[in-house]
Amino acid sequence: MAERLAAASLLPAVSPSPAPSPSPCPRVSASSFPCCSTTRAGALRLRSRRPSRFPQWVRDAECREELAMAAASDAAQLKSAREDIRELLKTTYCHPIMVRLGWHDSGTYDKNIEEWPQRGGADGSLRFDAELSHGANAGLINALKLIQPIKDKYPGITYADLFQLASATAIEEAGGPKIPMKYGRVDVTAAEQCPPEGRLPDAGPRVPADHLREVFYRMGLDDKDIVALSGAHTLGRSRPDRSGWGKQETKYTKDGPGEPGGQSWTAEWLKFDNSYFKDIKEQRDQDLLVLPTDAALFEDPSFKAYAEKYAEDQEAFFKDYAEAHAKLSDLGAKFDPPEGFSLDDEPAAEEKAADPAPAPPAAAAAPADEKKEPEPTLVPVGAAVASAPVDDNNGAAPQPEPFVAAKYSYGKKELSDTMKQKIRAEYEAIGGTPDKPLQSNYFLNIMLLIGGLAFLTSLLGS
Ligand code: HEM
Repeated sequence: MAERLAAASLLPAVSPSPAPSPSPCPRVSASSFPCCSTTRAGALRLRSRRPSRFPQWVRDAECREELAMAAASDAAQLKSAREDIRELLKTTYCHPIMVRLGWHDSGTYDKNIEEWPQRGGADGSLRFDAELSHGANAGLINALKLIQPIKDKYPGITYADLFQLASATAIEEAGGPKIPMKYGRVDVTAAEQCPPEGRLPDAGPRVPADHLREVFYRMGLDDKDIVALSGAHTLGRSRPDRSGWGKQETKYTKDGPGEPGGQSWTAEWLKFDNSYFKDIKEQRDQDLLVLPTDAALFEDPSFKAYAEKYAEDQEAFFKDYAEAHAKLSDLGAKFDPPEGFSLDDEPAAEEKAADPAPAPPAAAAAPADEKKEPEPTLVPVGAAVASAPVDDNNGAAPQPEPFVAAKYSYGKKELSDTMKQKIRAEYEAIGGTPDKPLQSNYFLNIMLLIGGLAFLTSLLGS
């Protein structure tokens, strides 16, 4: 532990961009309320230091209320934090441990538990000692120490978002794909809300493929996700003094960069590419690590299909990795706003793909036999009558128009029979029928006439 603390304290302070001033109505994370007993020393004071007119118990109650509403992150602050993370990565080469930090916060998710935060996942719980001390998280205290100054600088973002932001940024900065991330994750506020130990995978289980499925299926992920995400081991090293896996050092790790030592899965372990799959497949270099769970990717037939593909085709790997990573980073998270928000002005690639292409002119696009009834325009009764075309049959024999209730109402709900009868009666009273649009707006004319008469009467009366 002492060694880790020393290592962390040697790291340069990161402050490339000034903290943006909190917006007029800042969204603040729970941990940044100085009025609360839960406040960490060093957190920026968002609430003003003006002397309060209220007694402490009132301020505490106010604070509890704010805590209950503790919203997620401020987009401007997240963007600035991303710049700081980039600088941190450049100066400390901490890409791998940031990826592991994000994954270990979200990977505790259990899809069989509905309640938040009991279900685990990306909720910032990994900042608490209670969870950091889980065996699987050995060494992640170093990641927290690196990222804490950025958290302190930007009180308007949550740990949950910051961990995932750091992970996605690390992948991208290492040469990996752009990940279609969203933000707005809410933080848990107390150590008691941490998930129980044992939800993350073990590197040396009895039957690795079964174990991987058990763990990742519990998160709602599938075989493709398992293989793609394992590709994150293209970055980083395993250290015997942390996980117990790997060599003390190899020719690839003895000189760093960063703290020397450990055993990497790939020769260039700060570069994100598909070399992990190539190296695991060949297993030729004794200096490169292959965990039992890594080897399983080329042993299990379903995993193997993906692993082979990724070894051959880096583009396919990047595409699947980006999707799987985005899914992983959302696991179990409670978003505020509920749909989350993106930091990029450009929509992510997959959002674009999901957008419907601009509709071609209806007549040209649809073959004649597939031509659909145009959506009824939802307009008030009178207007519907006034705007209905006289003849939309292209000269064919006039067909009686069916009674389309939605045409005569604001909502899409079907009208009751009584209402239909009433409407029909009203039409028939003025010589029309709802089956055939009237050529003139009788209702409007009558209303205008009544209005005019009323106006004249009042003039005469006065
Ligand atoms: C498939 C099951 C997985 C197992 C059994 C596993 C196991 C391990 C182990 C034992 C280490 C070494 C930790 C140390 O000694 O410091 C490690 C490191 C790492 N893992 Fe995994 N992992 C798995 C999945 C993942 C996933 C899904 C990701 C990310 C998406 C990931 C990212 C990393 C990274 C980047 C490192 C290097 C950390 C560093 O260099 O500090 N792993 N993993």
